[in-house]
Order: sequence, then structure tokens, then C-alpha cells
Amino acid sequence: MSDFSGLSLKGKTAIVTGASRGIGAGIAILFAKRGANVVVNYVSEGSKERAQKASVSNLDEIPRLVDAARQASTIPNLGFHSAAQGLEANLVDTTPEFYTTHFDCNVRGPIFLTKAVEPHLPKGGRIVFISSAGARLGVAGQTVYAATKAADEALVRVWAKELGQSHGITVNCVNPGPVATDQWFQSDEQFLKDMQPLIESTPAAPRVGEVDDIAPLVAFLCSEDARWTTGACLSANGGLYN
Ligand SMILES: NC(=O)c1ccc[n+]([C@@H]2O[C@H](COP(=O)([O-])OP(=O)(O)OC[C@H]3O[C@@H](n4cnc5c(N)ncnc54)[C@H](OP(=O)(O)O)[C@@H]3O)[C@@H](O)[C@H]2O)c1
Repeated sequence: MSDFSGLSLKGKTAIVTGASRGIGAGIAILFAKRGANVVVNYVSEGSKERAQKASVSNLDEIPRLVDAARQASTIPNLGFHSAAQGLEANLVDTTPEFYTTHFDCNVRGPIFLTKAVEPHLPKGGRIVFISSAGARLGVAGQTVYAATKAADEALVRVWAKELGQSHGITVNCVNPGPVATDQWFQSDEQFLKDMQPLIESTPAAPRVGEVDDIAPLVAFLCSEDARWTTGACLSANGGLYN
């Protein structure tokens, strides 16, 4: 029977992308409180004070994250993909540039960061993505964003197999609905208005999520107690979608 000591992250080292703000920042702080070393990054000038610069969209900058993790500890144990571009655009307004910006950050970045970190991840390592309820709900205005998140969920299922028995690594994601962060508040007024009925129908409570609603679930997935959970997408959306 577990005594929940497995929830400690003491001695682990995590690479948390998108940790300068929002959900990633909440995760990085909670990981640190549970005893982990945390490597974070930023791309926006406004986040410079809070993190170390390394865009996951730029493949040349990925080794810097891995090197930083290896300096913090010889072994990074946890990889957490929170960095994302999350703008809305209807199909008719979607441009190749918009597509590339989102896919480079949300899909290509995690693929090549995971590839770079995989040789250093020991047995018991953990990889967690932040997906989105939008990957499955079908929200108007999310042609590209929803496709990137569905791609991330596919990576979780594939890597659970590729990195499972052979590497002893679990790979999972959580899928928030609307969360009160910059990404949510930068949405245009009409989108926020259109989402209001969905928010009010959220089974757990008629409100948007908070970072604190999401972070503990991610910390659990990174703990020893979550060793039997892999290839999964856990609801972090108050029951909007499972
Ligand atoms: N908020 C929501 O309603 C919601 C709902 C469902 C899922 N999600 C998902 O949750 C995750 C976190 O979102 P959030 O709401 O916390 O977003 P946020 O507050 O807008 O923060 C985005 C983070 O991603 C980083 N980032 C952006 N492009 C990057 C790049 N190319 N390389 C490295 N880092 C980059 C940003 O760094 P800078 O500070 O340097 O810009 C920032 O730390 C995302 O995967 C998002 O899709 C969010």
C-alpha cells in the first residue's frame, strides 16, 4: 500500500518548457516545492527576468535546455512540454505562417527536445504534455491549435510504447479546458463570448480553470506513484471532456 511518499520529487531534475508564465510556471514552482531541480526557458523579452532563453521552435536552442538539465544533475528525470502557441484562427483566415509557427512550437519542438533528452533519461523517467480539451471538443477557431494538440496526444500514445518496456519511461498528458492564463486572456472578445456557455456547463464548477487546478495532476504523473499510468490523457478540465 502506498504511503504517498512516492509523490515527492526529491532528487529529480525536470526540464519544463513554457515555464516563464501560466501553467508551466505553476508546474515549475510545484515541482521545486516537491524537491525537484527545475530547468526553465523563455522566448519573450518580458519573460527574460524569469527564465533562461531557449525557443523550442528553434532546433539549435534545444541542446541548451538539455545541457542546463545535465548541469543541474547528471540525470534529468522529467520532461514536461507546456510551451505552446495558442492563437485562434478560423480555417478561412489560416495562413501557412500561422500553421508553421504553431506546429514548430507545439509539435516539432517537443519531438526534437524529447529526442535530445531521451539518451539521458533513466528508467523511471517521466514525460508529460499539456494537451487541451480543444484537441477533441471541436472548438470553432482552433483549426491549427486543435490539430497540434491532437498530434501531441498521438505522440503520447506512440512514445508510451517506444519508451515503455525498453526504457522504463512513462509518457502522458493532461488536457485542460479554459485556464486563466495569458493564453486565455489574449483570445479575442468574440471567442471568449462564444466559450461562455461551455464554461458555465463545466460539470465540476461553472468557471474557467486555475493553474492550481492543473499543476498537482502533472506532479502526480511525475511521481513514483504514477508508475502504472502511461499513454494516458488525464482530464484536467472539470469534466468538460474526458
Ligand atoms: N490557458 C488555457 O486556456 C489552456 C487551455 C488548454 C491547454 N492549454 C495549454 O497549456 C499550456 C500552457 O499554456 P498557458 O495558458 O500557461 O500559456 P501562456 O501563459 O500563454 O504561456 C505560454 C508559455 O509558452 C512559452 N513559449 C511560447 N512559445 C515558445 C517557444 N517557441 N519556445 C519555448 N517556449 C515558448 C512562453 O514563453 P515566453 O514567456 O517567453 O513567451 C510561456 O512560458 C500550453 O500547452 C497550452 O496550449 C492552455
